[in-house]
Amino acid sequence: MYGKIAQLKSVAAFRDRLTELSLSLPLDGHILSASEDSPLAQPLRLADRTIGNRWCIHPMEGWDANPDGTPSEHTLRRWRNFGLSGAKLIWGGEAAAVQENGRANPNQTQAVERTRAGLRQLLDELQSAYRQAFGTTDDLLVGLQLTHSGRFSRPRGKQLEPRIAYHHPLLDAKFNIDPTDTSIVWTDDDLERLIDSYLAAAKLAQEVGFDFVDVKSCHGYLLHEFLGARIRPGRFGGDLEGRTRLLRTIIQRIRDACPTLLIGVRLSAFDTVPYRTSLEVGQPLDYEHLLPYEFGFGLDPSNPLQIDLTETIAVLEMLRDGGVMAVNLSCGSPYYCPHIQRPAIFPPSDGYQPPEDPLVGAWRQIDAVRRCKQAVPDLPMVGTGYSYLQDYLPHVAQAVIRENWVDSVGLGRMVLSYPELPADTLAGRPMARKRICRTFSDCTTAPRNGILSGCFPLDPHYKALPEAERLKEVKRARKRT
Ligand SMILES: Cc1cc2nc3c(=O)[nH]c(=O)nc-3n(C[C@H](O)[C@H](O)[C@H](O)COP(=O)(O)O)c2cc1C
Ligand code: SF4
Repeated sequence: MYGKIAQLKSVAAFRDRLTELSLSLPLDGHILSASEDSPLAQPLRLADRTIGNRWCIHPMEGWDANPDGTPSEHTLRRWRNFGLSGAKLIWGGEAAAVQENGRANPNQTQAVERTRAGLRQLLDELQSAYRQAFGTTDDLLVGLQLTHSGRFSRPRGKQLEPRIAYHHPLLDAKFNIDPTDTSIVWTDDDLERLIDSYLAAAKLAQEVGFDFVDVKSCHGYLLHEFLGARIRPGRFGGDLEGRTRLLRTIIQRIRDACPTLLIGVRLSAFDTVPYRTSLEVGQPLDYEHLLPYEFGFGLDPSNPLQIDLTETIAVLEMLRDGGVMAVNLSCGSPYYCPHIQRPAIFPPSDGYQPPEDPLVGAWRQIDAVRRCKQAVPDLPMVGTGYSYLQDYLPHVAQAVIRENWVDSVGLGRMVLSYPELPADTLAGRPMARKRICRTFSDCTTAPRNGILSGCFPLDPHYKALPEAERLKEVKRARKRT
């Protein structure tokens, strides 16, 4: 077990830990409020809009929409909390499926005509919470994340109903997909219809009142998988031009049809080899027989455990030139390398014990964004992976903004346990230590076991639900195995 951040009693102790791990991260000694000129209080220009600060809320789904894809009370509450955060950039709210068959679970929010009123409710809930807490929403920017879950579609229940870009030998094996089944591979014709669905969803989002859509291209879902589809023949695979064609076409079609709608892209900037699910320390699946490794994006084909940002930077340039207002950089996938994507001291039930100090995982994401930002300085970038920094998140966040490593700092799990962190720190209030996300991973273990997501350990709303008891039983049973 690695040392817990909660046990480090001062910024100096945290700095020592970074030094021990040879991690170079900018770190301020004190949290600055807005009136003390915190870099996080600076406005940010995105396309023709100016937003009020440098905090961003990442999209966080809850496996809690109604079966018809409209929001439930839990979904609305989460969006209300996003509004109470005080962050001025709401990056997508949560993944909303553009087609019914592209849902990651039967309780995923959908962006289809039927859910128009529900999407409106989500936006209203967020904006009215925001207005009550902070006044005007003039400098707030809210998007809707659009997705197709691709390989990880489970539209009807536990059963995977994958729709894949190509057969990936290791992911097929990990998720029991028949490597000879051609019926689950998208045809180029099907993709034309998918593009239409993205377009319809974007129009809907604009009519409902969202400022932008995020064309989600991360975490192993469909558009991310296409970026690594080297072995796919035809127009949508092969070289980088082919592998980015689907994403570029969707963006271009949205721009043509909705010229005033802003477009963002959440991108997995790098990846790694899929890891084995186990109770032991994480191990990658055997990949040596597959070298050079042709099955990912942002990794080195001669050593796929290593990041290679060459293609990532080329894609960032394409996105900038294609009119994308900003990117939100994440990495990997929660399904096959959670320690990379979502550094945690306690793994989720489909994970494994962390194979590295999770602080290394947080640093890797922050540093990769620095390299992307240096390479493409005129494309605004949001960074990910900060929740593991816990008590020291604001100290790093304000320093990386000041040093221009990134333009906006995004919060994922931290916003589930402690939504008001941005507002508290900007106002000069002390951080509420008891609400800091300690990366228990219950918000993932719950949905992996058919239970809605939420911060069961720290949020009284979830603690009081009957599902909390079910989750405890799931965790007890797992310990017994
Ligand atoms: C419960 C849960 C739901 C998530 N839902 C989404 C989602 O809908 N879309 C998305 O792009 N990422 C999603 N993520 C990933 C987060 O946005 C974020 O990238 C990740 O948690 C790492 O950031 P953090 O260290 O601040 O938590 C989710 C993560 C969790 C734990
Ligand atoms: S359940 Fe709560 S404390 Fe645990 S990782 Fe999720 S947000 Fe953090």
